[in-house]
Amino acid sequence: MTATHPQLVLSGMQPTNTLHLGNYLGALKNWVRMQTEMPCLFCVVDMHALTQESGYAKADDVRRATREVTAAYIAAGVDPKRTPLFAQSMVAEHAELAWIFNCVARLGWLDRMTQFKEKSGKHKERSSAGLYTYPVLQAADILIYKATHVPVGEDQRQHLELTRDIAQKFNNDFAAPDFFPLPEAVITGPGTRVMSLRDGSKKMSKSDESDYSRINLTDDADAIAQKIRKAKTDPLPLPQSEKELEGRPEADNLIAIYAALAEEPVAAVLAQYGGQQFSGFKNALAELAVAKLTPIAAEMRRLMADTAEIDRILKAGAEKASTIAAAVMADVKRIVGFVG
Ligand code: TRP
Repeated sequence: MTATHPQLVLSGMQPTNTLHLGNYLGALKNWVRMQTEMPCLFCVVDMHALTQESGYAKADDVRRATREVTAAYIAAGVDPKRTPLFAQSMVAEHAELAWIFNCVARLGWLDRMTQFKEKSGKHKERSSAGLYTYPVLQAADILIYKATHVPVGEDQRQHLELTRDIAQKFNNDFAAPDFFPLPEAVITGPGTRVMSLRDGSKKMSKSDESDYSRINLTDDADAIAQKIRKAKTDPLPLPQSEKELEGRPEADNLIAIYAALAEEPVAAVLAQYGGQQFSGFKNALAELAVAKLTPIAAEMRRLMADTAEIDRILKAGAEKASTIAAAVMADVKRIVGFVG
């Protein structure tokens, strides 16, 4: 017999001051849609931000970024009345369950994690133990709510597989069949992988040195338009078919961004602009991006002007999340043999 777990979505982003177009098209836009399809919980994973020194260097920056990411969730259209929004650190059960999962996960499993290898770089021995067990905390973020669906980028697929492995091993080892669901990664589809405006083969990233490589969600109209006009292109006119986009990463990226912002298929964009020069297309893209993104920036600014209100939203969200988490944690304690 397989218990069916009620559908529940959980996802989270690290607190950073530079949320960009990739976060919006690749994640937030999907979250906004998903909240109308299934119950959702969205958090800001501030505890994960401590795993690297860049995260804990300045406490005020983490606090500010936690509020700013919350503001971005809301400005993008996540409705805090419908969907609890909270910071990971506000619900203590994430850390409590992570400890239990540290005892379930095998070192061999963690040794295979490619994100740890990338982030720890050449000096593994100088990385924090937290960076190493990062995916264990991520598994706890998801399973403390028994979430079944986790919208994430392609780069998180391995962490979701680990989450399933942990859930399965816990269920087996403690003879608690089906206690935890085996959550599914909901990988956001093609066209939403937004690449750098300077190099169409690299992901748009907050850590790229060049601010011209990305459109930040807080950029004003002038900055957005300038970055698009300066975006790298190739010398050919825009292609007329999707096939001809192959081997032209910059053209591919700009077309994909247009299609995602306009909510049109790529073929429709090519039908309109194929054969034309980039300059005219870039003007149209700049206009579209300004129209779609500046209201988000304005709403973020409005929300950030009243951090007490953001803090109230986070507290209310954390209370709702805590109710679920406390019940699951009480069962976990009983299952593993803790008294009380
Ligand atoms: N590791 C995720 C990322 O970098 C962030 C994250 C932490 C997360 N906990 C999570 C995503 C739980 C989904 C669910 O994108």
